[in-house]
Amino acid sequence: MKAIVIGTGYVGLVTGACLAEVGTQVVCVDVNAEKINNLQNGILPIYEPGLEEIVTRNYNNGRLSFSTNLAEVIPGADIAFIAVGTPPGEDGSADLQYVLQVAKEIGTHMTDYLVVVTKSTVPVGTAVKVNREIKQAMLDRGALLDYDVASNPEFLKEGAAVQDFLKPDRIVCGVNTDRAKEVLERLYHPFLLNGRPIIFMDIASAEMTKYAANAMLATKISFINDIANLCELVGADVNKVRKGIGSDARIGNSFIYPGIGYGGSCFPKDVKALVRTGMEYGHGLRILEAVEAVNNDQKKVLFHKISKHFDGMLKDKTFAVWGLSFKPGTDDMREASSLVLIEALLEAGAKVRVFDPVAAHEAKKTLGESVTWATDLYDAAEGADAVLLVTEWNEFRLPDWTRIKQIVKTPVVFDGRNIYDNTYLEKNGFICYSIGISQPAVSVLSRS
Ligand code: UDX
Repeated sequence: MKAIVIGTGYVGLVTGACLAEVGTQVVCVDVNAEKINNLQNGILPIYEPGLEEIVTRNYNNGRLSFSTNLAEVIPGADIAFIAVGTPPGEDGSADLQYVLQVAKEIGTHMTDYLVVVTKSTVPVGTAVKVNREIKQAMLDRGALLDYDVASNPEFLKEGAAVQDFLKPDRIVCGVNTDRAKEVLERLYHPFLLNGRPIIFMDIASAEMTKYAANAMLATKISFINDIANLCELVGADVNKVRKGIGSDARIGNSFIYPGIGYGGSCFPKDVKALVRTGMEYGHGLRILEAVEAVNNDQKKVLFHKISKHFDGMLKDKTFAVWGLSFKPGTDDMREASSLVLIEALLEAGAKVRVFDPVAAHEAKKTLGESVTWATDLYDAAEGADAVLLVTEWNEFRLPDWTRIKQIVKTPVVFDGRNIYDNTYLEKNGFICYSIGISQPAVSVLSRS
């Protein structure tokens, strides 16, 4: 089997490396020569646990290679994945220019039957457009080759993408011919051990499945965040409520963790794009509009708590921010809640000392010298008026609180991910704020 993966971003690289890992001959193609050159030298454009190891192993054993020249590598391929970016346009819809450009190049250069698969998250109807581009490009060169277009959305979580690819909950494939189905079945067979299913459906349904999955997960998060905020007002503890509802199998325990909003490259973009698709078809997706609005507000929740605690006097106060990436296990800063919080703090005249174990170099691109870059969590906490837990990296889970108490100016902790034991911290002289847990001293009691 020979696969071409076009686009060496997060999705493309994981796809290429994992397919090579099980024996497929893979060429990853990108227009960015520097990126390709780096990959040939073992330098990856992203941080993803386990990825460097399988890229290196499969590059060295010859199953994985990198190229900037699609025309050169496409002959002999059974399948080509389009895994280039679909950034959100101004109106929230996915920008398909890169996907369609690649489709055109495939049509220009293919030499034999090929299954062309959209792997990027693309709106319903994209496969039809991809098909049109390929056909037109072939007509332009007077070729009439057989090919199929298919949709195979990815459900990878950043930080666990390699494991998710190798041991998927399911593989979804949208096809409209038996021939394309057979190629995909053969390609994915090695990943279907232990009853893992491959689900075939029509192309539009496969395209929709990706958006519906992400929209459902984002809905769960905004729902629990909304409930968490109400818990604070009525004197309830969302952690208890979460356990109480999560043990109902119909609801489930996952993705109902309150926090300071979802970020990343998928949820914000996909929710927006689906809302946009709804509008295009005259079907307003009112629940998803609310999901997005709740999430935008949730990113500011920690700032409001801080502001309230300090009676709005944040000027020249110093805050230690622990964690910057949108979630642990990744250096991805896209739509990270930390950026919204830090911007608000700086605007209020505060000083910010930040530490993230992995994402600092990415975050510097946005934050530059507006903040102080600490070398570890203790360095960040030095002289701080409060510690703000933003990303729940493992190394933040059990800090030496005695040491923290000695180095901070005031022992106040704002836990944006509910990872700390408030009772313990309070016993040890800290004031601790969480999400969705009423603060007797500052909320319910002060209200009565
Ligand atoms: C997500 C989907 O999980 C994945 O299937 C899809 O392919 C891409 O989008 P990812 O963006 O990597 O993956 O992150 P995920 O682990 O899903 O978390 C997304 C955001 O939701 C993070 O900001 C996280 O902190 C937040 N989150 C998640 C919560 O606030 N509460 C939860 O209970 C779960």
